Formats: sequence, structure tokens, C-alpha cells
Amino acid sequence: MTALTDAAAAGAPAGELARGPLPATYRAAHLRKSDVGMFGETDDKDVRKSLHVGEVPMPELAPDEVLIAVMAAAINYNTVWSAIFEPLPTFTFLARFGRQGRWAARHDLPYHVLGSDAAGVVVRAGDGVRRWSAGDAVVISPAYIDHEDPAAQDDSMNAAEPLAWGFETNFGALADFAVVKASQLLAKPPHLTWEEAASTTLCAGTAYRMLVSRRGATMKQGDVVLIWGATGGLGGYAVQLVARGGGIPVGVVSSPARAELARKLGCAGVINRAELNGTLADVKGWRRLGEEIRRQVGEDPHIVFEHSGRETFAASVYVARRGGTVVTCGSSTGYQHEYDYPLSQVGEATRAVQQGRHIGKTAVLCLAPREGLGVQDPAARERAGEDRLRLFREA
Ligand SMILES: NC(=O)c1ccc[n+]([C@@H]2O[C@H](COP(=O)([O-])OP(=O)(O)OC[C@H]3O[C@@H](n4cnc5c(N)ncnc54)[C@H](OP(=O)(O)O)[C@@H]3O)[C@@H](O)[C@H]2O)c1
Repeated sequence: MTALTDAAAAGAPAGELARGPLPATYRAAHLRKSDVGMFGETDDKDVRKSLHVGEVPMPELAPDEVLIAVMAAAINYNTVWSAIFEPLPTFTFLARFGRQGRWAARHDLPYHVLGSDAAGVVVRAGDGVRRWSAGDAVVISPAYIDHEDPAAQDDSMNAAEPLAWGFETNFGALADFAVVKASQLLAKPPHLTWEEAASTTLCAGTAYRMLVSRRGATMKQGDVVLIWGATGGLGGYAVQLVARGGGIPVGVVSSPARAELARKLGCAGVINRAELNGTLADVKGWRRLGEEIRRQVGEDPHIVFEHSGRETFAASVYVARRGGTVVTCGSSTGYQHEYDYPLSQVGEATRAVQQGRHIGKTAVLCLAPREGLGVQDPAARERAGEDRLRLFREA
């Protein structure tokens, strides 16, 4: 702790914070570039081995930035991805960002301070900052946007290269200090504790965008919404948004205790996936899931709220009603989504074609053990273009 962090934690007046000298280093949870590759092919990539807590240098502040004394920060799943260096080491993002030069070049370092959700107190503001000053209690949005791009006027997420702070940029939330753009700040709701305020923005904002926004599922009253992980970070907010917005949330969870919590949050239907006979990896499990949704709320989902990815995506596509929407933002269980039919499921595949639920052509794997095998002339394939050949497969 330093005099400045002590003063911020004690609620010292703005003048005292603004005058307090900045420490040369600060305590931060960070990854080391030298650790990339440390896990090799190990199954259990234990993030405690790659996450270090120690001193890092205090960066210089750009004119449009503020320095925050962080009172609390939330852990999001992107910190898990970062700490296992998958799908890409985040040092790749820092290097790419750094190539923009000037202030961006500061971020390309051999260490990465992580974290994308925080609440704290402003202790310094750059010369170009107008709305915020030392002493302000704030929460931080993870959206690191270039507001000079005109596209940001319409939808900041559509601006050129929107970045996730503390994932694709450095100087993130899990530290005693954080460097953020002034445009990331919101006033802290006064009725929340530091840790409550720090836990809201990333997941609630993402769930809102997925469910409600015009770039998402545009949920309306009466919509049945299936929500995976209904008591998790995203799912917990999704349940509340659907229930308060006049929809009918059906939550999927993995234990009786979570089922009870999901009901308390507002779920009209709750499914404990541990009790589904059969696995969600095949059509029997998907059918059971669909039957259970109908039994509990009377109809198929208009919207499926996805984020778990590989292990659930096929089931999501299967249970969504015709014309329904599967909306997603992540893939915790794996980012390669496969939902092919093996020969044993030829009936289902043909039924999908019969009912027009397919696009393009539907194939079944007979003896081929998996997709992607059988290319005899790779050069010819390359000439034809992988992206053109897989146009429908990727859709
Ligand atoms: N693009 C974005 O801006 C953005 C923003 C936020 C999150 N995300 C991504 O969204 C994902 C979820 O984030 P989160 O913060 O909600 O994580 P979380 O708090 O860990 O919640 C995820 C939930 O998923 C459920 N789950 C886990 N494994 C499952 C499986 N095999 N099948 C079905 N459900 C499973 C778990 O609930 P049960 O065990 O009870 O079923 C868990 O509570 C992550 O991949 C994250 O990176 C993306």
C-alpha cells in the first residue's frame, strides 16, 4: 500500500488525492510473456501457475486517460483464456495494438496486467479529460473504443478495432491502479459496495446487447428465452433482463441449489442439466431438453442465450423454434462448434431436410471418423479457396 492508495481507500478529499505523489510501481496481477507455452499439452492448465501478483512500473498517462485507484475488480472468463494463453496468447493482442504507435505502444510489454471490470476512485485525469476528476467514485466499462472513428457515433462496438480493456489492452483491473480511457467511466451507483459495482458492467452490458439491442436478439414481451448457465455471470443478468422485460426465462443449471437460485432470480422454468437422461452431445439429449422446455413453459424458445459453445451449441440450434434466434458471445467449453450427423442419425438428418431446417446440403459421416478428411489434392483445394468451399459450413 502507498500513501495514495491509503488515501483513496479512506475517501480522502479530491485535493489530497490530486496532490498525492504517484508511486513508481504498483501491485498487479499479471502474466509474463516468458510463460507463454508453459502448459504444453497438459489437460489441466492451472491458471494459478501463470497468474503472478507483483510490482509493475506505473505507466505514463495519455491526455484522454484517467488513473484509477482500484477498490475492487471482478474476474471474468476472459482472464481464464488469458491465463491459459488460448486461443491465442494475449501478448499477440498487445503487440498488434502497440503497432499503432504513440500511446498504444506503451501496451506492448513483456507482462500483461489483466482484468476487465473494476470500481474505484479517480486519482489523476489527463489534460484532455473534462467530465471526471480526482475523488470521483466510478465503475469502468471494458469497451476500449476509438471515438474518433465516425462509426462509433452509431454504435461504438462497430468502431474500428474495439478492444476489451485488460484483455486486448494492458493496465487492466486486477491491480491497485488501472489506466483507462475517460470514455470508459460511469458514476458508481451509490447503493452498491465496491465489489458489487465491480461485478456488473461487463456481463450485464453484454447480456443486454445480446438480448435487447438491435444488434442482438431484439427480445420482446412473451418471448421464451432459454438461458444456459442461468446462475453464472452472464446468465444471472440475462435471467433478470428477460424477466423484467416481459419475457419468459428458462434457465439451465447444473445442481439443485443453482436451480433454486435461478427460480429466485425469476426463471419461469428451470432445467438441471445433470438430470437430463443422456448427454447433450447427441440428439437424444437435445430432444429431452426440448421436451422439458415445452413441458415447463408450453412452447419452444424464441431465443437461445448461448456462451458455453462447443458442448451446447448443437443443442441450442436444435431446441430453438423455427425462425428463432441463437445469440452468442463466447465459447467457454471450446470454440470449435460441431454439430454434424453421424450415419446413426440419418433419420434426424433426413427429417431436418424434410422440414427445411437445413441450409445448403446436409451430409452424414459414414466411415470417415471426423470432418475435414479425404482431401486428395490439397493444391487444387487451395486454388478453389477454403473460404468459398466452406461458405455454407461456416454460416
Ligand atoms: N464477448 C463478450 O463480450 C463476453 C462477455 C462476457 C462473457 N463472455 C464469454 O461468455 C462465457 C460465459 O461467461 P460468464 O462470465 O457467464 O462465465 P461463468 O460465470 O463461468 O458462467 C458460465 C456458466 O456456464 C455454465 N456451464 C459451464 N459449463 C457448461 C457446459 N458444459 N454446458 C452447459 N453450461 C455450462 C455454468 O453453469 P451450470 O454449471 O450451472 O450449468 C456456468 O455458471 C465465457 O466464455 C466468456 O468469455 C463474452
